[in-house]
Amino acid sequence: MKKLIISCIISIFLMSCNVKQDIRILTNENGNTSLQFKTSQRYLLLPVEDTGDELKTELFVGNQFVGSYIIRLAKNKIDYWVPLDLSEWQGKNVRIDIPGLNESAVCLKEIKLSNKFDFDSNEKYRPAYHFTPPYGWMNDPNGMVYYAGEYHLFYQYNPYGTRWQNMSWGHAISTDLVHWEHLPVALSPDSLGAIFSGSCVVDENNTARFQTGNEKTLLAFFTHSERKGQFQSLAYSNDKGRTWTKYENNPILQHTTAKDFRDPKVFWHEPSGKWMMVLAVGQVIEIYSSPNAKEWTYESNFGEGYGAHEGVWECPDLFELKMENGKLKMGKKWVLIVNINPGGPMGGSATQYFIGDFDGKTFKCEAPSPVERTGGEALWLDFGKDHYAMVSWANTPLPCGEGSGEGLRRLAIAWMSNWEYANDVPTHYFRSAMTVPRELNLIKKGNEYIVSNYPVKEIENLRKETNTIENIFVENDYSIDKLLDNNQGAYELVMDIENQSAEIIGFKLFNDLGEFVDLFISLPEKKCYVMDRKSSGKIDFSDHFATVTSAPIEAKKAYRLRLLIDKASIECFEGDGEISMTNLVFPSEPYNRIGFYAKGGGFTVKKLAIYRL
Ligand code: FRU
Repeated sequence: MKKLIISCIISIFLMSCNVKQDIRILTNENGNTSLQFKTSQRYLLLPVEDTGDELKTELFVGNQFVGSYIIRLAKNKIDYWVPLDLSEWQGKNVRIDIPGLNESAVCLKEIKLSNKFDFDSNEKYRPAYHFTPPYGWMNDPNGMVYYAGEYHLFYQYNPYGTRWQNMSWGHAISTDLVHWEHLPVALSPDSLGAIFSGSCVVDENNTARFQTGNEKTLLAFFTHSERKGQFQSLAYSNDKGRTWTKYENNPILQHTTAKDFRDPKVFWHEPSGKWMMVLAVGQVIEIYSSPNAKEWTYESNFGEGYGAHEGVWECPDLFELKMENGKLKMGKKWVLIVNINPGGPMGGSATQYFIGDFDGKTFKCEAPSPVERTGGEALWLDFGKDHYAMVSWANTPLPCGEGSGEGLRRLAIAWMSNWEYANDVPTHYFRSAMTVPRELNLIKKGNEYIVSNYPVKEIENLRKETNTIENIFVENDYSIDKLLDNNQGAYELVMDIENQSAEIIGFKLFNDLGEFVDLFISLPEKKCYVMDRKSSGKIDFSDHFATVTSAPIEAKKAYRLRLLIDKASIECFEGDGEISMTNLVFPSEPYNRIGFYAKGGGFTVKKLAIYRL
């Protein structure tokens, strides 16, 4: 005891103290820092070094531990700032302990209290019409649900940096799937762990008994992840998703052995009168059921011998899809979405799916066929390199807004990045965007079904001025030198192509700096639709970025190609979404020229429409 007191006295003497803008900064000889202040302003602004060391930052209010965050506090240089919101603790004494930070760290000179947090929300690669977090890191879309006229989009969020960490659920809402309003973070890490991916539902029949007023309860299912393991937990909201309470008896589902046990997607299965949960467990999907959303029973698993297995299975989804317009009488199938990382066809992350039937207990797969060993054939939902963690909205309404519920319209969204380089893409205050919301449909090709993936109709409301060019016959090359006046890099191209005799139907999008993306349909032998981004602009931030992506395509007389371009991404679609291909690009300036080219014969661009978005 005596020894302890003496060593405490010594370390107090060795502590140096600095006062800056009412913040007392105490550092000791072990390189540990403590900040102390009375909260008088809304934020503490923390300087961050993008590739700096991850430091555990512990927050105490009046000596009570409140939470810990992992932040790359700037030691050598400041790349950007993140705000720690103190509004809950105004007028209180706050202490922040930061082991591993000594007094020479540059952040200690620049740390400050402020009522404002400003950043450049229009930075170069910030998309104009794709969803991005206000600042900080984003990965998977989570908990999408429609309720009371609002589409909710939650997402894996780090509010304290632009690299993956401190997983929380960010939150935004929209009434039209196009314009999004940011809401406060819905779920933050707690003593059970970080908040990983999951889903939301409307508890129509109050099965969980959380409802208190007239609003239906929204239930959120998510994975609590910590060093000891992963388990599933529940939170609920009785105020249209504005505030959330974590269920007191969390976790609701644990596993004794699996290390990867996550991403619950829950839906109501009418014929069984039960909730169903699909979960990614290593390389299979486990299915559980529950009458009340709290107690869960294991039903079955699916996956061994089916599809791609060169990575971990993540973010599953299971739903029934009808043939488009319900035209075909027997046109209804169950679709199981399984995201996989790594092991995608273009390297890294991708979305595969399975078509079959579900009886409330077991998923019976009809396509792709099983293989004897793992690593077999797979069906891919998108053939680009930047389409991951796609899951769908619960309770979607019809486009005109009348009625909502399962099975009316299946809308989904994906994270537009790839784990191979997501942490390194050259954006500044934020990292990652979502794809545009897409509609999934079942299409029959010969004897087989596929799932199509196409932008929601609502995106067309963004179209501003239009430029239309008709009947261009391309024998060798044909160039259009300007797509739009003052092109800001957010536009759409729709082209109707009629093939006369070409073996290669190609076009390149250029900027004046000679950067380009090459897209072509190749018809001899292996028929494919290809996008090459090797010369697209900035590519040197990762060895995995400069790639060529390719989708199988049929030889046809006519093709309709649609491209949604938004500063740093290109989403390509063929037909009604039979092919989709999503890729990031980082051009130094927008591509504003198109050069068509043909090989082995000619083709006609019957119509090219250019829309500013
Ligand atoms: C997929 C994923 C999920 C997990 C989350 C963590 O990208 O790895 O499986 O829940 O990200 O952020």
